[in-house]
Order: sequence, then structure tokens, then C-alpha cells
Amino acid sequence: MRTAVYPGSFDPPTLGHLNIIRRAAAIFDELVVCVMRNGAKECCLFTCEERAELLRESTAGLSNVRVDTHTGLLTDYVRESGSPVVIRGLRAVTDFEYEFQMAAVNRKLNPEMETVFMFAGEEFAFLSSSAVRELARFKSSLRDFVPAPVERAVREKISALEAEQSR
Ligand code: PNS
Repeated sequence: MRTAVYPGSFDPPTLGHLNIIRRAAAIFDELVVCVMRNGAKECCLFTCEERAELLRESTAGLSNVRVDTHTGLLTDYVRESGSPVVIRGLRAVTDFEYEFQMAAVNRKLNPEMETVFMFAGEEFAFLSSSAVRELARFKSSLRDFVPAPVERAVREKISALEAEQSR
């Protein structure tokens, strides 16, 4: 059985992530989408468990997709999961340097790990979780950018944060 791991911070999951998930799930027998911490990002709108739940709702129709969370190193997760294949999406040249460095560091830590890159669907090449968070703060529609359950959750989270700030 060929399993692949698709790690990311998914804060929140976007239609671009879902595009990669669908395509990777069509290639591998099982795809484990793993919500992790990106130490370089200060965000997060959602907790790890909330992000995992949003991914579970958004991938409910994909029977070979499983969602997990991990707070440590990706290489440790890959070693424990027994699958050496990691999927990453590439949107533009600007992603390349960061991804190249991460793949190289990860391979140094775990030489058996193989990072497989998939190009984002052209219609999602501009899309990022940070753009979604920014749009949500300005009450813009998120319909073209995130799955419906995610749009609802983002709106609720932003409203809750605003209510908290105005107290
Ligand atoms: O969606 P992102 O934020 O680009 O995903 C990056 C992520 C979470 C996959 C990366 O930061 C990661 O692997 N974090 C786990 C900790 C780790 O292994 N760091 C070493 C990376 S060189």
C-alpha cells in the first residue's frame, strides 16, 4: 500500500490545498493530511485540532484521506508513519527557495524521506491562507477561496475575536 503524507499549517485550509489533496489522493492508496506547526509563522487563527476538524469536514467525501496532527518535526512523523513520501504544493517560483531548503534539511535529517512536489492548479496559484485571513478581516466573500465549512468557521472565529477585542 502506497501512503503519502501531505503536511502543512492549513490556517485555514483553502481550495488550493483541497486541489492538491484530491490529486494526491488519486495517485496514492492513502493520503494522510497532517496539520503541523510552522515555526516561521506567527499566526494562527485556528488551533491545530480546529484546523484538523475543518480538513476532516472538507475531505469527508474522499475515502482514502485521513487527517492527523503533529507538534514535532516532520521527519519524525514520517519515520513513525512508515511512509517516506511527503507531498508539497508549489504555486510560484517564490515558493521554490523555501521548499527546496526545507526538502534538503528534511532529507539530511531522514535520508529515506522523499519530497514530491505538485504544481498548484493554475486557478489557485495566487491563493494563500494568509490572503484568506486578510480578506476575512475585511468581511470580503471567501466563497471562491475556501470550502463552505471553512468559510463559516472563519467568519465565526473573526466575529468571536472582534467581540473579545471590543470588550
Ligand atoms: O503550510 P506551511 O506553513 O508551508 O507548512 C510548513 C510545515 C508545517 C510543513 C513545516 O513548517 C514543518 O514541517 N513543520 C514541522 C516542524 C519541522 O519539521 N520543521 C523543519 C522544517 S525544515
